[in-house]
Amino acid sequence: MTTGRVVSSERYLVPWPAEPLVSRERVRVRVRVWTDDLVSGWSMPSWAEAALLDPGDWLAKPVGGAWDEDRSGDRRPARVRREFVVRRPIVSARLYASAHGVYEAEINGMRVGDDALSPGWTVYGRRLRYRTYDVTSYLTEGPNAIGAWLGDGWYRGRLGFNGGTRNIYGTDQSWLAQLEIAHDDGTRTTIATDASWHAACGPIATSSLYDGEVHDARSDHPDWSRPDGGSGGGWTPVEVRERDPSTLIPAEGPPVRCTDIIAPVTAVRRDDGSYLLDFGQNLVGRLAITVEGPRGSHVTLRHAEVIVKGDLATVPLRQARATDEYILRGAGTEKWEPRFTIHGFRYAVISGWPGQITPESVVARVYHTDMPQAGSFECSDPLVQRLHDNVRWSMRGNFVDIPTDCPARDERLGWTGDVQVFAPTALFLYDCAALLDSWLVDVGLEQLSEGTVPWYVPVIPGPPHWTPIRPGAGWGDVIALTPVALFQATGDVELLRRHHQAARAWVGLIASLAGPTRLWDTGFQLGDWLDPAAPPDDPAASATDPYLVATAYFAWSARHVSMAARTLGDLTEAEMYRELADEVAKAFRARYLLDSGRLTCDSQTAYAIAIAFKLLDDVRATRRAGDRLAELVRGNGYRIATGFIGTPLICDALTSTGHIDAAYRLLMQTECPSWLYPVTQGATTIWERWDSLRPDGTLNPGGMTSFNHVALGSVADWLHRVAAGLAPAAPGYKKISFYPRPGGGLTSAAASHDTPYGRARISWHFAGDEMRVEMAVPPNCTATARLPGRPPFELEAGTHRATVPRPATPEQVRR
Ligand code: BGC
Repeated sequence: MTTGRVVSSERYLVPWPAEPLVSRERVRVRVRVWTDDLVSGWSMPSWAEAALLDPGDWLAKPVGGAWDEDRSGDRRPARVRREFVVRRPIVSARLYASAHGVYEAEINGMRVGDDALSPGWTVYGRRLRYRTYDVTSYLTEGPNAIGAWLGDGWYRGRLGFNGGTRNIYGTDQSWLAQLEIAHDDGTRTTIATDASWHAACGPIATSSLYDGEVHDARSDHPDWSRPDGGSGGGWTPVEVRERDPSTLIPAEGPPVRCTDIIAPVTAVRRDDGSYLLDFGQNLVGRLAITVEGPRGSHVTLRHAEVIVKGDLATVPLRQARATDEYILRGAGTEKWEPRFTIHGFRYAVISGWPGQITPESVVARVYHTDMPQAGSFECSDPLVQRLHDNVRWSMRGNFVDIPTDCPARDERLGWTGDVQVFAPTALFLYDCAALLDSWLVDVGLEQLSEGTVPWYVPVIPGPPHWTPIRPGAGWGDVIALTPVALFQATGDVELLRRHHQAARAWVGLIASLAGPTRLWDTGFQLGDWLDPAAPPDDPAASATDPYLVATAYFAWSARHVSMAARTLGDLTEAEMYRELADEVAKAFRARYLLDSGRLTCDSQTAYAIAIAFKLLDDVRATRRAGDRLAELVRGNGYRIATGFIGTPLICDALTSTGHIDAAYRLLMQTECPSWLYPVTQGATTIWERWDSLRPDGTLNPGGMTSFNHVALGSVADWLHRVAAGLAPAAPGYKKISFYPRPGGGLTSAAASHDTPYGRARISWHFAGDEMRVEMAVPPNCTATARLPGRPPFELEAGTHRATVPRPATPEQVRR
């Protein structure tokens, strides 16, 4: 075994990522460390104040078309442009840009940046992001032109279920941009959106996030963003709107980008002349086409996540049309991809295609927030591996500027409960701290003054369950639990501090709702949402008492606020919340725990939450609860019986009470409902329901049937920590726990995570009677290893190998 010894180091700043410039982005201070057997690592992240435009320096005003519009439907999007002359040599140039709506910028005929759907979705009235681009190479001395495509996006496009609402943030569609050019003599030229700009409708007829985009290439003027491209096209002076510059904030993390291009696996011509394409992967993005044909040919692209009876299953999309249309200009080869829409799909039907579709004609471009991949997991079981891959794909599809519930139907909202249960998994797989932190800021802004955290953030009007906002356990708790998950993953105490007041307000509200009983047993609750026993049309009617869940979460959030207060140095407050958590746990036991050791609600989620949230006061009671949980799991034939609340907890609850074999049997189950049932049905993402597609091949008839939802995929966190055996033992992985617990017939597993200090890694495999383990500890970190048949031991930075006797694990039952 070797131990890394630090022999030298150097520190330097690495801005991340480089293009487009990201303002006030978390950057990492890179520490290169040479050790005996390990090369380099990253230190704690810190903040760089770069690429900012101070509120006082904003001259730009939002500008857009001055024509009348019918505000009740989709409106034809505008383009805006301006020409200008640069009279001195250019040293550097930066473009600061945002929009009411979404935008893509162009200068002198060239697309600026590769970000999509900018400026993303925030609580626009309070915070509107701008992005900063280095455009030095786009400009020349002499005549130049700048402009932008605009789309409705979240700002004024249709959003929400049951037909949705338009104009949620405003009725205008405007660009807001300021170009700052530095010259060789120290002078500057500023070109800002103002009354000197012009607007015109472009070739986009309509564009909607849910419904898709219609593009008539016949009405395009491809030179519109070149200096000589202003003639024709009907350019008219813009209308100038208002925006308080103090609400403009620099982008807080990587933008949405195309991160993958996927060719269809099959393209089958159907009797009606249309083509059915299968991309082999349920993904989020859009199609890019290369087409040739007569002017006016009308190509229609429809999307869906699944096929039922040989055709696109569009019922799960509800009122999202998910259809793009392209009308050909008829001039040689035409390349097109919609700009301001996004779809969740694996399949597409293309009709109206002139001639034959070839493999080169259509590709799917995958879009999501371009978070650096941070974690990996591999194991010997192909179905479990596919399950894990599906979790990753569902995360990619649902981390599109904000963390959403699903990417395909007319919803795509930042449901707080979904994020809450998935955050630990998400933070392992990708460096999504910036995205989650930004979204939590909006959670705090949308929180009501008495502490209620909305069901989804940003808040949009919804049907009676969701409007007006009410406090819901498991969902509202995101504000207390997720900042701690962020801190655990990054070690960045600022991430904890920033949301602490909002977390306190939430727990304070629940304390006042519970009153002296310390039981939260009032109001509407979602409970163990979508457990398999709940009827398709009543997902909240779970087997577990929703008030048991509510009081359990009350205790758990109070405990987290206590831990946060301690970390932030307020010991009095920490003690106060610890006492509160203890009192709530005591009230929980008095109300729900029977003398027999059973809970009044004898469900798997009830025991899982009582164990995982440490609500039972002694080892014996916890052990008895674990035994009962294992009994229930066995009695149910190792099929899953938990919903959004119990699913992330059940394997841990079984593991910590000595029933890891039951956890593995649950994991390895392939019959419905189970984690692997969708995998056996060919799922390539995590489904919303255990049986989104039922064993008889029909769709679940409930009103919500998505095939791309992260919540039930939160078991991946257990795979990382327990099956592979890699977990943080101190915030930011300063101390690491290597604790692999083989089972379920797995013969090997591995996990790695790019901690703030560098890559931590474990891999183990069986070789004959031996279990061979390799562990890598990043520079400036230590680790504790707990390997079967050996007392725990400490590790320093470096790569370490160990061989222990192969543990006796129950044989795999399933296959
Ligand atoms: C969403 C969920 C969400 C739930 C809450 C659904 O429509 O898709 O994931 O948490 O509503 O009720």
